[in-house]
Amino acid sequence: MTRLLSVASECVPLVKTGGLADVVGALPGALAPLGVEMRTLLPGYPAVMKAVTDGRKVADWPDLFGGPARLIEGALGDHVLYALDAPHLYDREGAIYLGPDGKDWPDNPQRFAALSRVAALIGADGVGGWVPQVLHLHDWQAGLAPTYLRHLGADGRVGTLITIHNIAFQGLAPEKMLNELHLRPGDFTQDGVEYWGQISALKAALVHADAISTVSPTYAQELMTPDFGMGLDGVIRARAADVTGILNGIDTDIWTPPYKTIRGKARHRKALRAEMGLPDWPGPVCVVISRLTEQKGLDLLLDALPALVDRGGQLALLGSGDAKLEAAFKEAAAHPGVAVRIGYDEGLARRLIAGGDAILVPSRFEPCGLTQLYGLRFGTLPLVGLTGGLADTVINASPAALAAKCATGLQFHPVTLQALAGALMRLCELYEDRPLWERMAKNAMDTPVGWEASAPAYAALYEKLTKSS
Ligand code: ADP
Ligand code: GLC
Repeated sequence: MTRLLSVASECVPLVKTGGLADVVGALPGALAPLGVEMRTLLPGYPAVMKAVTDGRKVADWPDLFGGPARLIEGALGDHVLYALDAPHLYDREGAIYLGPDGKDWPDNPQRFAALSRVAALIGADGVGGWVPQVLHLHDWQAGLAPTYLRHLGADGRVGTLITIHNIAFQGLAPEKMLNELHLRPGDFTQDGVEYWGQISALKAALVHADAISTVSPTYAQELMTPDFGMGLDGVIRARAADVTGILNGIDTDIWTPPYKTIRGKARHRKALRAEMGLPDWPGPVCVVISRLTEQKGLDLLLDALPALVDRGGQLALLGSGDAKLEAAFKEAAAHPGVAVRIGYDEGLARRLIAGGDAILVPSRFEPCGLTQLYGLRFGTLPLVGLTGGLADTVINASPAALAAKCATGLQFHPVTLQALAGALMRLCELYEDRPLWERMAKNAMDTPVGWEASAPAYAALYEKLTKSS
């Protein structure tokens, strides 16, 4: 048994803003059959504390970044969950990263430094007699743990892996916070936590963790280039030998199509059209389930919509995020072929995947992406930008792939309006060729999208990082 502590700021089914939560929630179950005992450490937000009401206290600190804190051991399904109960940091209503004003909580650096600090303490000495062999740290929120381990003189005791789910979030804090974050002046160097005059929790992990992973092989390569590295490409390049890309899987129990072939979609498509108020046009029902941000390229989709609806296609979008994009999509919904729901709705997400013919993911960058994987599993063909995990998971309907009968969707490149509009036209064309479309849908539905390949890859990496303790 390898003993793992996974450290993250979100996790399904308790708290989620994006795919990170799905992955963190799925890992313990995916790794258990491979002899990995994975426990999860989360901030004690209200939803997390509610899940551990029957838990027991296993540690406490009179002053953890400005207030008393306790560690509660409870259960996350069949696995152990540690909730860091620190009301001064986490007992807040509203979004986990944002205050009521829609801006980051001003004390986010302290909130997640505390999480990282406790991860390091557990890594150094264990908790309640349980000593992890590896800390699996997710994104910047867990990023300071390897630095704290060094301070504790314990970096030789426990292996550390930082997984980059999204390099756009780097955990920046002003230099003057060094003391308050329990960092040392000696940490504030170019090969330490310093990043353009600020502290970066993500950079700290990139330089101090034993290994770096990200959530697809292509993104692992892209991260080492200036176009995608967002200023950290040099730091990652310097560690190229320690960088791997391991694709995310999805929970195939939750995401199971209610039909055996896409012929069974008809009833779900009809229900979806009725629910969203879409007309019964001959073209494909295209769906989007997404955060509305620059990353996702949905501004391009807005501009490409006229071409899609003119060709008889329809769009049903579920998303939330950027206020301007929300407003623009609401306005676009005035067209009968376009339906938009602003908000977050798991049930509707599922109905969209089941009822839609194609799922659109025109991202400018995409570390992995999960919704195209849902699309594959449901025969809801993905149309995606050729980047990151989207490049690794979809087989483009090129002439060669069509001839070899292995295509599972469409990819376009570069991520521009022109290329997206062209791909949408191609989608409509392919949709008219029913035998071909059904063939592609079958290929898509046969594609493995669970954890079957990636869980062993993580297990092997953990094994490599295990230090005897
Ligand atoms: P990211 O993590 O960048 O947001 P992913 O594709 O990896 O992108 O994961 C997004 C996850 O969040 C998926 O599980 C998707 O279904 C879900 N999701 C995104 N927006 C919504 C929404 N408005 N309603 C329901 N689920 C959503
Ligand atoms: C990030 C990425 C997304 C990835 C998810 C889970 O939010 O944007 O591509 O699938 O993390 O790893």
